[in-house]
Amino acid sequence: MQMIDLIEQKRDGDELNTKQIDYFIEGYTAGSIPDYQAASLLMAIFIQGMNRRETVALTQAMARSGDQLDLHDVATFVIDKHSSGGVGDKTTLVVQPLVAACGVPVGKMSGRGLGSSGGTLDKMESFRGWTFQMGLPQFKAQLAEIGLVLAGQSVSLAPADGKLYALRDVTGTVANKSLIAASIMSKKLAAGADAIVLDVKMGNGAFMKTVEDAQELARIMVDIGDDAGRQTVAIISDMNQPLGHAVGNALEVKEALATLRGNGPRDFWLHCLKVASYMLLLAGKADSLEEAEAVATAAREDGRALQKFRDMVRSQGGDVSQVDDPAQLPRAQFVEEISAPWSGTVASMDTAEIGWSCVRLGGGRLVKSDTIDHAVGFLLPVKVGDQVKKGDTIGIVYANNRDKLIQARKEILATIKLADGPVERLPYFYGVVK
Ligand code: URA
Repeated sequence: MQMIDLIEQKRDGDELNTKQIDYFIEGYTAGSIPDYQAASLLMAIFIQGMNRRETVALTQAMARSGDQLDLHDVATFVIDKHSSGGVGDKTTLVVQPLVAACGVPVGKMSGRGLGSSGGTLDKMESFRGWTFQMGLPQFKAQLAEIGLVLAGQSVSLAPADGKLYALRDVTGTVANKSLIAASIMSKKLAAGADAIVLDVKMGNGAFMKTVEDAQELARIMVDIGDDAGRQTVAIISDMNQPLGHAVGNALEVKEALATLRGNGPRDFWLHCLKVASYMLLLAGKADSLEEAEAVATAAREDGRALQKFRDMVRSQGGDVSQVDDPAQLPRAQFVEEISAPWSGTVASMDTAEIGWSCVRLGGGRLVKSDTIDHAVGFLLPVKVGDQVKKGDTIGIVYANNRDKLIQARKEILATIKLADGPVERLPYFYGVVK
């Protein structure tokens, strides 16, 4: 078999058979297929698409590319969650400790930033010393001990996704349903969770731009999960504006910590509550969504969730004093407010552009080798439908470079559109796929 044949076949719109997909994933994982051929095939897949059989084959090959965990020797029931990616999406940082604090073990593999959307691992690396590098024995020991693990692909689970994810990020091949479904579900299958809650984003800051596309992606992933014997539920949520107020690694960590302390933005807390409640429902900790919400809220109010987060940071080598005093997290040299140029109602926010603007400030990667500046980003306190007066603060830029700060100010001003008349607020959710 030759890689060039697969590339040409897909380029011309033909299906790949399962053996060919296995060959690609095995060869790319082993390093015998170079990045340029893998990138070329990814672009052909991006343009031509994959059918359901190809998508399932790709997912299974990626899940088999490394270890496949069976966690039942350390936990009777393990739950996992995954977001399809968005701007300001720090949900994992709140949901994972919330659910673990309710007695449901959460062993999770997370990713780095992808395109305009941030990554949980990049955010968590705002903590001094924190690492997601661990072997299987530590993964299991930590899951047994504190019921909470946040690992990366380095655990040798789905290593094919680790490599492909980084390549897709810099080759314009992220926003394809089959590639996203295979990426997410291969990690979930390999990580051995019994049940999975998927947070599928839709809107101008998500990879899926319409409710229909988000539903289709959700359906593919729920079916893959069900076929593999994992209970899977997908929530379709809004990404036509950033989630919460903070965009940028350390800023998002601070907002997640505030939320665990009960002081986070309302939209972000309600989002976390919904995701956590579905996880608790699947784990049998409640009989209804309302009951699950009460269980999750109690774990936040009495400080158990924050304690779980602290335990996880400590177990993974992080500096716990930064949890207790978030002012010790990375701080930017330049902080500047952006004022509303005139009075009006926030009509729209170009969410992907806000994400890209953060990447350009240094908060994400434009090429694979870029290093992240954890301190930079934005606080955007306004939401679509909010009324603002001329001169009100509609954003704050955090930067470590004056020129980049000036550029980012301009960019953010251009992403927030004001209108004269009233504007309807955006829904938080668009349904659930089971
Ligand atoms: N999240 C993932 O894990 N993979 C994708 O491809 C997109 C979002």
